[in-house]
Amino acid sequence: VTGSAAGTGSIAGSDSAATVDTATCGRLRRLAVPRFPAGLATPCLYVDLDVLDRNIAAMQATMDARGIALRPHVKTHKSVAIARRQLAAGAAGVTVGTLGEAEVMADAGITDLFVAYPVWAAGPKAKRLAALHARAQVIVGIDSAAGARGLAAAVARSATSLRVAVEIDSGQHRTGVTFDAAAGVAVAARDAGLEVIGVFTHGGHGYASGADRSTAASDEVRLLGEAAARLGAAGFTVSLISAGSSPTAVLSAVAPVNEERPGTYVFWDRQMVGLGAGEPDAVALVVLSTVVSAAVPGQVVLDAGAKTLTKDRPAWLDGFGALPAYPSATVSRVYDYHAVVWIPPGTPAPALGEVVAVVPNHVCPVVNQFDELVVGRAGVALERWPVDARGRSD
Ligand SMILES: Cc1ncc(COP(=O)(O)O)c(C=O)c1O
Repeated sequence: VTGSAAGTGSIAGSDSAATVDTATCGRLRRLAVPRFPAGLATPCLYVDLDVLDRNIAAMQATMDARGIALRPHVKTHKSVAIARRQLAAGAAGVTVGTLGEAEVMADAGITDLFVAYPVWAAGPKAKRLAALHARAQVIVGIDSAAGARGLAAAVARSATSLRVAVEIDSGQHRTGVTFDAAAGVAVAARDAGLEVIGVFTHGGHGYASGADRSTAASDEVRLLGEAAARLGAAGFTVSLISAGSSPTAVLSAVAPVNEERPGTYVFWDRQMVGLGAGEPDAVALVVLSTVVSAAVPGQVVLDAGAKTLTKDRPAWLDGFGALPAYPSATVSRVYDYHAVVWIPPGTPAPALGEVVAVVPNHVCPVVNQFDELVVGRAGVALERWPVDARGRSD
């Protein structure tokens, strides 16, 4: 990284043209070098069980100490085995992003499900929602009167009313209504026959840079509080006030919030360590990859490309992954099956044929590229766990 007086710099050899801050680079240079098993076919995903269990326990302990329910988002791991570990540690249920993820969890007997997404219940999805509602304890997100009416129509023949929570936009400007529009959506949902139990938000604007994390967390708390008050004034009993993102989860875990829904914390990743949300020794999942070419001077090429690491990259982070054993190196370009690693002159490089661990920028879409996770302890592979909800983005 070439630093400047302003505390910013860029990584030479990269086509990702980001401006990164040097504090982020400093944290990423301290990524713990993982131990991993030899002899695996690459690329593959390796999960260190000790680190995974530490991450699960740490987030649970924080929420328990604050008296706040933890409802982890399973989109990160899409794994029944990991969801069970989170529930065994004390999670109050799980969050899902799609009906497909919910169905996979329900099939495995995990039935306390918050679909934190404004599901549009038309056609086959209406039938699937009704079937899910009949066999699980489901909460669904809403952010419009029309969406709520669609949900109500889908479950019209059900024995019980469907519970819904109104999504509030706390600053990400993706989905969700403003706090002062929440009661209007709630009234429309109640009139349609749904049971409105509260409000939720995702402070995704906390991903923007390290400095924005605490602002996003306080936005979540303040705007959820305002929205809950409006619902209360409109006659609703507000039992759910749910915030959630891994960068903000600990910071927004204060009253009136009573539930947090982080997902990425289970593995952490390069983006989260850069933000300061995850510690450099808390990364539980790495991509194992082999150096397949060193033909071009100044770089090596790994067998993990865009179809493994994805092209996900926040604007403030340069490159597409980090190699903890080679802290100066950065994955500077990705093609479908090639990852080009830029090696700064005079710094160590992995040898041709060497297997290296890569910490991906954003772990959630990376997991969705694989059928299974290799899991182990102290560098010894123990089991393979299926990525059960892989591809269930429906
Ligand atoms: C609605 C919702 N809740 C919770 C989360 C979990 O956040 P994170 O991925 O930061 O852990 C997400 C992530 O996209 C989300 O969209």
